[in-house]
Amino acid sequence: MRVCVVGTGYVGLVSGACLAEIGHQVTCVDVDPAKVAQINGGESPIFEDGLDEILARNVGTRLTATTSLADAFRDADVALICVGTPFDGRTIDLSYVTRVAEQLGALLRERTGYCVIAVKSTVVPGTTDGPVRAALEKASGKRAGADFGLGMNPEFLAEGVAVRDFMQPDRIVVGGIDERSSGQLAALYAPFASTPLIRTGTRTAEAIKYTSNALLATLISFSNEIARYCEAVGDVDVTDVLRGVHFMKHLSYRNAEGEVRQVSAASFLWAGCGFGGSCFPKDVRALIADATRHGANATLLQAVMDLNDTQPGHTLDLLRQACPDLRGRRVTVLGLAFKPGTDDVRESPALPMIQQLVTEGARVTCHDPIAMANARAALLARTVAVDTLRFEGDLAAAVADAEVILLVTSWPEYLGLPAMLAARGSSPLVLDGRRYLGRNDVARYIGIGLTQETGGEDNLAAMASQEIRRG
Ligand SMILES: NC(=O)c1ccc[n+]([C@@H]2O[C@H](COP(=O)([O-])OP(=O)(O)OC[C@H]3O[C@@H](n4cnc5c(N)ncnc54)[C@H](O)[C@@H]3O)[C@@H](O)[C@H]2O)c1
Repeated sequence: MRVCVVGTGYVGLVSGACLAEIGHQVTCVDVDPAKVAQINGGESPIFEDGLDEILARNVGTRLTATTSLADAFRDADVALICVGTPFDGRTIDLSYVTRVAEQLGALLRERTGYCVIAVKSTVVPGTTDGPVRAALEKASGKRAGADFGLGMNPEFLAEGVAVRDFMQPDRIVVGGIDERSSGQLAALYAPFASTPLIRTGTRTAEAIKYTSNALLATLISFSNEIARYCEAVGDVDVTDVLRGVHFMKHLSYRNAEGEVRQVSAASFLWAGCGFGGSCFPKDVRALIADATRHGANATLLQAVMDLNDTQPGHTLDLLRQACPDLRGRRVTVLGLAFKPGTDDVRESPALPMIQQLVTEGARVTCHDPIAMANARAALLARTVAVDTLRFEGDLAAAVADAEVILLVTSWPEYLGLPAMLAARGSSPLVLDGRRYLGRNDVARYIGIGLTQETGGEDNLAAMASQEIRRG
């Protein structure tokens, strides 16, 4: 099929590239000429495992990019709208989606031949059949259903593993305003014949996406609430508690070999310094706002957000218990991306934590394998004096003289930290914001959901007084 993908961000580019990989003829459109040029040069503007290889195989043959929506849409069988849907602080901002709908509508006016226009962006229930349909019909002078198809095809890929998620989907949801629309959308995914396909209405498709993200966000905040409870009770480690929970029959099963395996939802039942990214915070806030608009009660989801919003600050509270005065302290922050495997720092808990550390006078060094440039820009946007920060690309150099190491992103290379510190004979205080290391892996360890420092008897104050004595 000929596919026009509008927006080449994480969703648009990965979807476009993967649809080309499975045999479709894809044209990606973006308003950003730099991204278009990069894609046409076979280079990905974003970091995603496996994406460069797919681009190398398909750019120039089954995949091209352009800034011209007219060129891309001219003979498309399906157009997928993949532009952003930010939360504007009050409600979901649908202006990017409706703007594209207006532009596609104007092009539809001149077009002959059937095509389906589908929203892939995450939008609140009623958007596709409401403002998107209205914009398309007004600009085209044609009727959805009679003259063109209209649908909603939510995307479930997760950044960091986006290519894998797209190529091995757990489910495909196609919402159509009629059978012909959903049928044409379903045909796009014909190569994934063994994947559950949910054909439904557009509102249900929209709601499935929000509900899925809200559930995972809830599991994280639930775990973090239990972590705070464990800290308060004392002498109980949240990781021991959650591991015990993971083995309940609702979260685990025996495979054909009789081995116990956990379902992947269990990985969201884990404590940390909070969820971030471009989806969970935005989508849960949008769902709360839409529920409130409809007079429905979103108390639970509000609590999910409240807890998450305070979790970075709570993490620093744990640090202050060991080191009440952070002035002049050398603190190394490990991980700036909101999760491993991506260079995306949107709503990363690292950002407010670094901002607060700087405010309190700490001397901050930042490390991330791939997200440093994005983090620098994001910190600048938060008016953090980035010139006072040290961005260090070499992990060993980043931790070399640290008094405190704050682990924010569970990048696999940070598993080498204990051996690195042991080899140097240095014992900075490690605050594990992801409960990623073993609590006895380093000499001095504190973590979310753990009452006491483990691994050694010193605390920062003792270390500081030793330094003073040495001086
Ligand atoms: N990022 C994810 O992991 C993810 C996963 C599932 C769903 N989603 C949803 O998908 C949507 C897109 O998310 P994203 O992270 O890919 O966004 P993004 O901000 O990374 O990308 C959006 C792209 O659209 C382009 N754009 C904006 N207006 C345009 C226009 N009029 N014409 C052409 N291009 C235009 C921008 O230049 C940008 O490249 C959002 O609704 C998001 O909630 C995101």
